[in-house]
This record gives sequence, structure tokens and C-alpha cells, in this order.
Amino acid sequence: MPPVPDNATDGPVFELRDVRKTYHVRDGAWRRRPLHAVDGVSLTVNRSEVLGIVGESGSGKTTLAKLMLGLTQPTSGDALLHGRSMETIDRRQVSREVQFVFQDPYSSLNPSRSIEDAVAHPLRLHGMGSRLEQLKRAHDLLDLVGLPKRTHAAFPGQLSGGQRQRVVIARALSLRPGALICDEPTSALDVSVQAQILNLLHDLRKELKLTYVFISHNLEVMEHIAENIAVVYRGKIVEYGPKAEIFENAQKPYTRRLLASAMTVAPGAGIPRLEALPTAR
Ligand SMILES: Nc1ncnc2c1ncn2[C@@H]1O[C@H](COP(=O)(O)OP(=O)(O)OP(=O)(O)O)[C@@H](O)[C@H]1O
Ligand SMILES: [Mg+2]
Repeated sequence: MPPVPDNATDGPVFELRDVRKTYHVRDGAWRRRPLHAVDGVSLTVNRSEVLGIVGESGSGKTTLAKLMLGLTQPTSGDALLHGRSMETIDRRQVSREVQFVFQDPYSSLNPSRSIEDAVAHPLRLHGMGSRLEQLKRAHDLLDLVGLPKRTHAAFPGQLSGGQRQRVVIARALSLRPGALICDEPTSALDVSVQAQILNLLHDLRKELKLTYVFISHNLEVMEHIAENIAVVYRGKIVEYGPKAEIFENAQKPYTRRLLASAMTVAPGAGIPRLEALPTAR
């Protein structure tokens, strides 16, 4: 399998072509019914772009993220990374190109592995450098994400939620990926810490010229970080465009309701299903 060439940076980083992901969910005791978690989505994310994905709970955002990471395969259509079908790319190669930061920094770290070990672990798995070099890189990354030296040999249980998410981010950067997919990366954190993590992600992106796919229900987050926004509803992209356009001139009633409702929910609560909102009809 040839590696993704270095010059594969001009075209889109991510591309979904008419992708559908269908699950068969239980419907009563015996029957199952198809559920299209993602339903005919096409989109591209170019190098250094920040795409924000918003949508109500259950609309298919995380499924989109998993498709772009190759963690799940499309039922139909094609998910491409640097122009190559995800299915044909070796898993290890994918993880050098794209990494993810998910919501919960508590469950994403092994409690019995020290912080520096957690960050060095991907380097070890990929056989990159000597043990000493791996540790050095782990320390550099922990410095980069703003974790004080005294935490480097600590264990996840000794850190706060915000500190753990910094560790997760450092680990995600260890293989020098070009792209990061962040799925509600701050919603499990205290409000006071959320801004710090967002600022960190914002700064890292500039410093390392990363491509981001950023999933959040929090509009302030999108305002801060996204360039283009895709609004998903029941597995489909119902609105897509530059951030300013979506914010100022949302075309669809769904988007307007989403924008209005998202501003009223408590941080971390996720976007409620619109049916549950008095304004949704
Ligand atoms: N592995 C699975 N098996 C069956 N159904 C699934 C599976 N994963 C997701 N779904 C369903 O697909 C739909 C989309 O789920 P998804 O997790 O992508 O939504 P989401 O937009 O990320 O929601 P949230 O904002 O709550 O995180 C939901 O109806 C969900 O129940
Ligand atoms: Mg989700």
C-alpha cells in the first residue's frame, strides 16, 4: 500500500460522496427497521479549512465524524481521505493523517497509564523514534498544550477534566496529523474551562496549520472557530455555507430554530430534540 504522498495536500482532505450509513434498529420485540443515520451526504473539507457541523441530538453528527475517520464504513457512497477511498487506506496510515478528540476526557484515557506514556503511546505503536525520543516528544507536546512539568508523570485520575482534555489533544497531535476531528470536545467540561480548551485548539490550528472538522451545539464555539458550517437534520445536510451567511441569513426554519434553541440550552446538555421545544412545529 503506497503511503499518501506528501504532495496530496492540494485537493480536499476529506470528501464524502453521497454517503449513507444505515443501522438496523430494534422496532418491537422481533422486527428491525432501517435507520439512516447519515442519508446521502456530500461534502468536502479543504486543507486548513475549519468546517463546523451543527444539528440537533441524533441528527447524525457523530456518525459523520466516524465516517470521516474511517471508524465506520458507509453503507453506500464513498468516504475519501486525500482523494483515496477510506476503505483502501491502511488504518495506521489513516491515524497518521487524521486524529480525533471526542467529548469525554474521562473515558478516553487509560487510568493506569501515566500522562507522558499516554502521549508517547501512539509513537511507540508506530515505531517512531527511540524510547528516549518518544518521551522527549511527549514532553514537548505536553508543554505545547500547556500542561505543567509536574503533571507529566502523573496519572489521569490526578488531573482535572480540562487537564485531561489537554492530554487527549497532545496525544492526538503526537503522530503529526494534518487534520483533527473534534466532536463536542468541550461539552463535558466546566464552563470556565471550555474557553481555555477552545483557545488552545484555536492556537494549535494556526501554529500547526491543521484542518479541523468541529462538531458543536454551542454557537459561540462555532462563531469562534468555524469558517464554513454544515447544518444536519435527520442525516442530511440541510444548509451549508460560510459561517457569516449561516448566522446572519439562515434560510431554513430548522436552522433558525436550531440557532435560537442552541443559545438557550445549558452548556454540555447537547442540542435537545426539536420536537421537545415549544418553538418547534
Ligand atoms: N451503532 C449504532 N447502532 C444503531 N443506531 C445508531 C448507532 N450509532 C448511531 N445510531 C443512531 O443514528 C442516529 C445518529 O446518531 P449520532 O450519534 O450520529 O447523532 P449525533 O448528531 O451525534 O447526536 P448527539 O448530538 O446526541 O451526539 C441516532 O438516531 C442514533 O440513535
Ligand atoms: Mg454525537
